[in-house]
Amino acid sequence: MRILITGGAGFIGSNFVHYTLEKYPEDRIIVLDALTYAGNLENFNKHTWSNPNFQFFHGNIIDEDLVNELMRNVDTVVHFAAETHVDRSIREAGAFLETDIWGTYILLEAAKQNGIKRFVHISTDEVYGEAEGRPSVEGDDLKPKSPYAASKAGADRLAWSYWATYGLPVAISRCSNNYGPFQYPEKLIPLFVTNAIEEKPLPVYGHGKNTRDWIFVQDHCSGIDALLRSEDGKVNGEVFNISSENELSVLDITEIILATLKKPKSLINHVEDRPGHVTRHAVNPGKIRKALGWEPGYGFEENIAKTIDWYKANEDWWRNLKEKQAEYQEWIKTQYGDHS
Ligand code: NAD
Ligand code: TYD
Repeated sequence: MRILITGGAGFIGSNFVHYTLEKYPEDRIIVLDALTYAGNLENFNKHTWSNPNFQFFHGNIIDEDLVNELMRNVDTVVHFAAETHVDRSIREAGAFLETDIWGTYILLEAAKQNGIKRFVHISTDEVYGEAEGRPSVEGDDLKPKSPYAASKAGADRLAWSYWATYGLPVAISRCSNNYGPFQYPEKLIPLFVTNAIEEKPLPVYGHGKNTRDWIFVQDHCSGIDALLRSEDGKVNGEVFNISSENELSVLDITEIILATLKKPKSLINHVEDRPGHVTRHAVNPGKIRKALGWEPGYGFEENIAKTIDWYKANEDWWRNLKEKQAEYQEWIKTQYGDHS
């Protein structure tokens, strides 16, 4: 397989690159990434850079000519590239509309013109909005609550329309909150793990009882792999939730991180709540289990311990961002002010 991976220098994209190169050493991978503040070339090690089946292109998914040129050399696409942080979208939504919606349109058009055989669109469980009463199922209404989630909902439906209108073989994943190595330290788990290591306050929004459905990034990668490689009749034009059914509140997560790192609870700092904060995100993965036989790997306890160990062992990776990246420092000051 020859795969174009957009956003491959980000958190989930780089984990998917590692996953694929290891599992399918014969496959050829082309990464297209704009290297925004969230894209990081240090997410690839020297083995990846020297792998003849790995190629990296620094560029934007809204660059039609570049996208068309790259698309001519692949048969499949896995589309991760996006602006992804809810809090940033609340402050300034423009970049989210441009990349998440317009960028997806450019890719879909190029995929249509170049006869792409499978286009896996990485959507998110955020498109559902609140999971009221039970975890969301694929047929539920989309009621996104943040500009990020709304942009992703637009992209998700646009991708599906290319299947419905043009027969482009699109498969869509809607996964829950990921955690694991290489996650940019603005998201809850890497921010709190690295702050706890540094003995800095952990800024919990509001009461901290909001819940998310946490999945180890490797399990998301195996789900995407199933969407990429399953037979046409099973996945084309279909949406699949991906979740390891592990709902925990922000406070639960915070306490687990502090206990694992043997740091005091006094580091918990309740700050002003996020506007429009979703109380509960959770999805039912019954469809992907039944249709594709997908199952998550190890449980949360092992995986969160592994993740915390990774951030302990890779201080250089996150200190380079927290201490040297101007965009990071600016963000922390804007978002947390005196609480940072
Ligand atoms: P991330 O922010 O870590 O990475 C995004 C990557 O996209 C970065 O490498 C960035 O440089 C690149 N990018 C941004 N704009 C671009 C553009 N215009 N052109 C080319 N590249 C661009 O994000 P992530 O957490 O790895 O998320 C990846 C995908 O998975 C996103 O589509 C996101 O919506 C989806 N998703 C994320 C989660 C999660 O918990 N993180 C859960 C479900 C779905
Ligand atoms: P986040 O990692 O931003 O993911 P998402 O908003 O996409 O679910 O946030 C996860 C949860 O953690 C969410 O309920 C907001 C909360 N949160 C905090 O309480 N404090 C923080 O500093 C951050 C970044 C998140």
